[in-house]
Amino acid sequence: MLREPARGDWSPGQYGKFAAERSQPFFDLLSLMDPVEGGTAADLGCGPGELTRLALEELHLATIVGVDNSPAMLASAEQRSGGGVSFVSGDIATWQSSAPVDVVIAAASLQWVPHHREVLRHWTAALAPGGQLAVQVPANAHAATHVLAAQMCGEEPYASAFGANGPPPDPVHDNVLAPDDYARILDDLGFVEQSVTLRVYPHRLANVRAAVEWVKGTTLTRIEKRLPDDTYARFLFEYEERLGELLDHAEPLFYPFSRILFWGRVAT
Ligand SMILES: C[S@@+](CC[C@H](N)C(=O)[O-])C[C@H]1O[C@@H](n2cnc3c(N)ncnc32)[C@H](O)[C@@H]1O
Repeated sequence: MLREPARGDWSPGQYGKFAAERSQPFFDLLSLMDPVEGGTAADLGCGPGELTRLALEELHLATIVGVDNSPAMLASAEQRSGGGVSFVSGDIATWQSSAPVDVVIAAASLQWVPHHREVLRHWTAALAPGGQLAVQVPANAHAATHVLAAQMCGEEPYASAFGANGPPPDPVHDNVLAPDDYARILDDLGFVEQSVTLRVYPHRLANVRAAVEWVKGTTLTRIEKRLPDDTYARFLFEYEERLGELLDHAEPLFYPFSRILFWGRVAT
């Protein structure tokens, strides 16, 4: 029996509400890669682990280790360990592999850490000759869901409630680079083949409430973590009202979601 996640931790249940929408970019990422029969891999920011196992199967790997720093996500992932799949707690910003791996995957996790050039340098250093790096990162800081959250963080009573450190910045806005920056970084890091794509996923959600449920499982976790319960409840209430106005209370709601997918292979 899994424990409820600690307040402000990731919630596998909340995250899983949009599993179908979230898994399509992972399939697209896998389709960029070549299988590595009997190879080894790391899935950085693995979340609840279903996709980690899928990567093992689709890429014909012998082993894959999922790395995450959320106790709740790891507890959920642990249920999927075995048969070559394992999970460890770790920070993807400083992750290092004890032995070179054939594949490094990071799906919807890189945006949570800054200094992508440096982080990608670390990840590349973990690759065996001929190894592949595959990353999918949201590029939707301009979406109404994200702009409104950032705006409200700067307004009262929320701004004061965050205390001396101020509101938590939107990691997608602050950390994610342009597609051509990633192409240049891959080239600088010595990747001999690469592919970088900006792709828009055309989601149709039932209504604005569904969009709120979506972001509650991801970008709003940074706000939930920092506000007292009652203030976060008020934030959510006001957020849904204002998002509804911004999006004309559309039902269904067209929710385009931009993501950057990039892949590269180092020299053999
Ligand atoms: C949006 S989920 C993605 C999960 C999975 N890769 C997928 O595609 O569904 C992001 C995951 O990254 C993890 N994460 C965020 N920052 C991290 C860090 N610095 N170190 C390790 N994991 C991190 C979170 O705990 C969460 O499980």
